[in-house]
Amino acid sequence: MSHRLGVLISGRGSNLQSIVDAILRGELQAEIAVVISNRQEAAGLMRAREARLETVCVLQKDYASRELYDAAVVGVLQAHGVDLVCLAGFMRLIGEPLLEAFPNRVLNIHPSLLPAFPGLDAQRQALEHGVRVAGATVHLVDAELDGGAIVLQGAVPVLDADTVESLSARILVEEHRLYPRAIARVLDGKWRLVGRRFVVDAAAASA
Ligand code: GAR
Repeated sequence: MSHRLGVLISGRGSNLQSIVDAILRGELQAEIAVVISNRQEAAGLMRAREARLETVCVLQKDYASRELYDAAVVGVLQAHGVDLVCLAGFMRLIGEPLLEAFPNRVLNIHPSLLPAFPGLDAQRQALEHGVRVAGATVHLVDAELDGGAIVLQGAVPVLDADTVESLSARILVEEHRLYPRAIARVLDGKWRLVGRRFVVDAAAASA
């Protein structure tokens, strides 16, 4: 049975595009069942429509609380038979209703080598801190901001001449490489959590 992804976006949607492209290339055995945005003007919605994906906007202003908002998102995901939720530049904290409905089935991509530089403007934080290596992280989502077990990370150098824009662009290339691979790894199911560690199960992997 094909895995069904729900991709949540707020903006540009370049990571959504990398998932679409990986599926088209046959590198990711999954289909995108629905793209959900919390912003009607998200450019990623255009990409989704061009790829003939179903799109749904769920706007906070239509819900009286964060819990009701999250419950509405869960409703859309379940109605589309989603079995893995992929946050792709979704700039909202994820609450209990979503985490309870999809335990260990929500992934996020973040533009830093976590646990360094969680939150907003990760690339600027890295540059201002003066690290020599930056990168991207795909992790399972838990209640903590940019927390949760790390599935994959990719590193890129920070160059002396870097600006926030040039470093972000270098990290983004790595993000696009990383996210489809991390999704495939989670979907194959040959892993388990040991404390905080996402461990690929050697016995299961070779079976
Ligand atoms: C990406 O850089 C992603 O890592 C980041 O937002 C950008 C979305 O770009 N996410 C976070 O910072 C989450 N904490 P995209 O819309 O082009 O995929």
